Amino acid sequence: MSKKVIAILRGDYIGPEIMEAGLKVLDAASKDSSFQYETIDYPFGGAAIDQYSEPLPQQTIAGCKKADAILLSAIGGPKWDTAKKRPEKGLLEIRNALGLFSNIRPTKVDPNLSHFSPVKQEILNETDFVIVRELTSGIYFGTPREQNEEKALDTTTYTAQEVKRILKIGFEMSMHRRKHVTIVDKANVLATSKLWRQVTEEFKKSYPEVTVDYNYVDAAAMKIITQPTAFDVIITANLFGDILSDEASVLTGSLGTIPSMSAGTDGPNLYEPIHGSAPDIAGKGIADPISMIQSIEMMLRESFNETLLADKIAAAVQKTIEDKIITPDLGGTATTQEVTANIVKNLKG
Ligand code: NAD
Ligand code: IPM
Ligand code: MN
Repeated sequence: MSKKVIAILRGDYIGPEIMEAGLKVLDAASKDSSFQYETIDYPFGGAAIDQYSEPLPQQTIAGCKKADAILLSAIGGPKWDTAKKRPEKGLLEIRNALGLFSNIRPTKVDPNLSHFSPVKQEILNETDFVIVRELTSGIYFGTPREQNEEKALDTTTYTAQEVKRILKIGFEMSMHRRKHVTIVDKANVLATSKLWRQVTEEFKKSYPEVTVDYNYVDAAAMKIITQPTAFDVIITANLFGDILSDEASVLTGSLGTIPSMSAGTDGPNLYEPIHGSAPDIAGKGIADPISMIQSIEMMLRESFNETLLADKIAAAVQKTIEDKIITPDLGGTATTQEVTANIVKNLKG
């Protein structure tokens, strides 16, 4: 098998800490397997602003385009909050430059681990849903965008074609799951949401087996916490997906455990935790590496078809959590390094 190239964007604050942990696990898991890879680091985010005065240098776009997959930890933080061009802008640009219009954010509660959540176990039951977030349009990218002392303006735009292509990702996914799609929107107010519903009504005719329902985003935010098992595949716009996925992470116990995959029509996928650079805990050695390790697991599964390796990592992570070798975000006292070392140990059997 040919050697796969993985572009590495180490990020800011806890970014490098969890990336190092993730790469240790990837190295250990793949050692005695036929999966061969090399990693290439590229400057990105705040670190790239410091070095090149630009969060997304050209060399990084070019390198990522050539890679077989991209791993990103998290960028941004107070050091660059007043930068002319913030790290977050670089993140939006890389998603756009690579055409990564779909972002998959899973929420699956293992019944044995449901006590890690502040939500009651009987409510969590066997929660298992996926948020399919549109990632390269909506209010994040609409123009005009203006700001002066007196007034600011953001624009939300969606075309029917943009809605159709994200619906296709979500509906296809639902066919391998419980065949239930929920569109989350604000169609009682927003024109873009009305378009989403109109396009969905037509689109769903090609998927007669799929049950489709619509939830307003305010009610959905409540239902994710009170009735999480009501969802299978949530398909939603860029901003709503951003907010709801952080909320959904509470169901698994911590924002520090949720991975994601961003994909387009061709080219490499990008894998990253859903959380940010956690400046409040950076440098303390207590960042939860599980979101990064599970992003690597997702990469092995989705980009490289390495199901056995991915399963092995998933089992090792689960055992470490069950053994309560966990960081403070999950209520434990272990360090990033201890969690990582324990996962590596569990890989061996
Ligand atoms: P955040 O997600 O960084 O942190 C929110 C809370 O969750 C914090 O208390 C943090 O300590 C905790 N947390 C997050 N990840 C954790 C982990 N792995 N282990 C343990 N605890 C963890 O959100 P924020 O503080 O609002 O944002 C910080 C910076 O990150 C901002 O600049 C923001 O724009 C950026 N950000 C980047 C990304 C990304 O790179 N994809 C995503 C979200 C936010
Ligand atoms: C995320 C982040 C980003 C987003 C920010 C940092 C631009 O919150 O990946 O969820 O809003 O998409
Ligand atoms: Mn977010």
